[in-house]
Amino acid sequence: MLLITSANGNQGKLLVPKLLAAGASLRCVVRSESSAESLRELGVEQVLVDELFDEETLKTALDGIDGVYYLNPTGHPAEREVGLAIVEAAVRANVDHFVFSSVLHSISTGLFQHQYKRDVEERLVASGLKYTILQPANYMTAFELLPAFRDGVYQQAWSLERRMSMVDLDDVTDVAAEVLTHGAEHWGATYELCSAGWLTAQDVADAVALVVGDPVAVREITPEEWAKMWFGDVDLELIPDEGRVLRQICAFYSDHDHVGSPNVLRWLLKREPSSIEDFARKVFPAFRDGQVLERAS
Ligand SMILES: NC(=O)c1ccc[n+]([C@@H]2O[C@H](COP(=O)([O-])OP(=O)(O)OC[C@H]3O[C@@H](n4cnc5c(N)ncnc54)[C@H](OP(=O)(O)O)[C@@H]3O)[C@@H](O)[C@H]2O)c1
Repeated sequence: MLLITSANGNQGKLLVPKLLAAGASLRCVVRSESSAESLRELGVEQVLVDELFDEETLKTALDGIDGVYYLNPTGHPAEREVGLAIVEAAVRANVDHFVFSSVLHSISTGLFQHQYKRDVEERLVASGLKYTILQPANYMTAFELLPAFRDGVYQQAWSLERRMSMVDLDDVTDVAAEVLTHGAEHWGATYELCSAGWLTAQDVADAVALVVGDPVAVREITPEEWAKMWFGDVDLELIPDEGRVLRQICAFYSDHDHVGSPNVLRWLLKREPSSIEDFARKVFPAFRDGQVLERAS
């Protein structure tokens, strides 16, 4: 049985059906009863609804588990502690294979969430567990293309000139499903997962323009405006932790490019990874048909 954390989020919504289709039996962890219900309807055998991360929950979650897909929920305040604790719990539970979904350039300590992942990677590598580390680039999300589809303006909360590697989560979860179902072939591997292209904001806008058939402009927005995209009409001063992380991301990405190579992902997929244009082409029909392009969580 495989344990999947953050199982109904951006990655989980894509990964769980792929694993079920491959015949895997799953134990999933989520926070809400509504997510638990959706997962049970899909055919997930066991669902734990819990604040993942106290010792007892981890023990229950890992009991009898062969492989773990550990993905920290976005912005969890105790990300480092939780990551270190789940590695230790996996050692105690004699788990066969621990797959950690980390981030591209976890060595970049200018971002809190990279520091935490770097520390978890270090502990995992030294744990004696058979492990695989995935390092996805910035996610392509339909939600973040919405202003480009709707208003003809792609919005970015850091310098428009900076270049970014991105990745389609369909590609990331194809890799995750392969790694989890063919563990031994991937023991000890660390895989950087990027699509081709080092994208400025205008590159993303031009790709969307090809799909919608109209020009798309670019606009740099403030961290406060970006927060409103994510959290609704909130004052960042009232959510200081999230505010601190968002401001740090904007400053970090404005400071220098954040790019990687598509070579490893191309090799793993045995095909070309989705480009931002491929991704926009895939999600645009949902917008055109009036579906809500929500972020997953
Ligand atoms: N965004 C990017 O561009 C990017 C790029 C690279 C790496 N990453 C990293 O990827 C990770 C996030 O991946 P994701 O976006 O797929 O995840 P996500 O959408 O943030 O995960 C949400 C899921 O986690 C569950 N969850 C939230 N809080 C929980 C808690 N306290 N206890 C138990 N479960 C909880 C939610 O449960 P409910 O469904 O019940 O609410 C939901 O199923 C982060 O570590 C982030 O740093 C992100």
